Amino acid sequence: MNAARPDPQLDAHGRLRHLLTVEGLPRELLIEILDRAESYAAAPGARREKLPLLHGKTVVNLFFEPSTRTRTTFELAAKRLSADVINLHVNASSTSKGETLLDTLKTLEAMGVDLFVVRHEASGAAHFFAAHAAPGVAILNAGDGCHAHPTQALLDMYTIRRHLGPRRDFSQLKAAIVGDILHSRVARSDIHALRTLGAREIRVVAPRPLMPAGIEALGVRVFHQLDAGLDGVEVVILLRLQKERMVGAFLPSTAEFHRDFGLTRERLERLAPGALIMHPGPINRGVEIEGDIAYGDPRSRILEQVEHGVAVRMAVMAMILGEPSRLDEDSQPAATPAARPRRAGRAAGAPAAPRRRRR
Ligand code: NCD
Repeated sequence: MNAARPDPQLDAHGRLRHLLTVEGLPRELLIEILDRAESYAAAPGARREKLPLLHGKTVVNLFFEPSTRTRTTFELAAKRLSADVINLHVNASSTSKGETLLDTLKTLEAMGVDLFVVRHEASGAAHFFAAHAAPGVAILNAGDGCHAHPTQALLDMYTIRRHLGPRRDFSQLKAAIVGDILHSRVARSDIHALRTLGAREIRVVAPRPLMPAGIEALGVRVFHQLDAGLDGVEVVILLRLQKERMVGAFLPSTAEFHRDFGLTRERLERLAPGALIMHPGPINRGVEIEGDIAYGDPRSRILEQVEHGVAVRMAVMAMILGEPSRLDEDSQPAATPAARPRRAGRAAGAPAAPRRRRR
């Protein structure tokens, strides 16, 4: 609308309107998301009791690609916030034209949807939806092609921050992202998030065919040898070989990839003491990581990552749907009934914000 508002994700007040990518999001906003997620995770009865924040709102999980953990954690998050949730798995091959995507969006919008959680094989799909969404409808990117997967990066940062010690300071952190960087939306989003949070060093480690040209421009150090790339890092994020995105042969074989780029017992020695081993899943046992490290080594945070996905996705959904932050709320008069925690966003018991509230 005006030149001072270049980021379609933010409204005129700098609040989240959509979440499409981590790139360009202000550091304070990232931290606000992490802090909110922490308050949801720490709430008494967090796993059992629902918060009323999204009561009366409708969330559609619109997935054009298969997903287990991402879709399920979005669903759980929306349900814990008391939203009505609809899961739609759409076969991408039947919607290959932009106009068909638009038809899908408009049809669902007409049913009164407040928030679409979109996963699509095409990079840019979430931006496309956001550009065409009606004024009161929000888009949350759950992964678009090789481009972005912002909530995965946020839950990765949340997981890392929990292990940073009391100062929760990223500025001394050395992290390595290892594997199929070329096809990975997680790698890109993690790089942006780590940079925004001020990580000291971000390494990307991959065989040459799986390393995007010019990636140094994102502020990373490039390694083609795993041993050197792992030396002294406090965080290693492993990535799956995204075979579904590979056109032609990128590698001689997965066995060779494992030999040169797989995380094995011997290679664990290279990590800094107490390092975190992370992976967005799904893992390929014996390819990017040995199965017993993934689920048996105390340094592995892979299941913790899945768990954190719920609180982080709750935080993003609550912020997008316009709930006041805890600071706003602290200045509001208390309402009935008293049983709900103050951090629960809108004053407990207050009616849902009017639909289509937009700034
Ligand atoms: C990732 C994704 O879909 O981009 N997984 C996930 O969201 N849990 C990574 C992957 O598929 O390898």
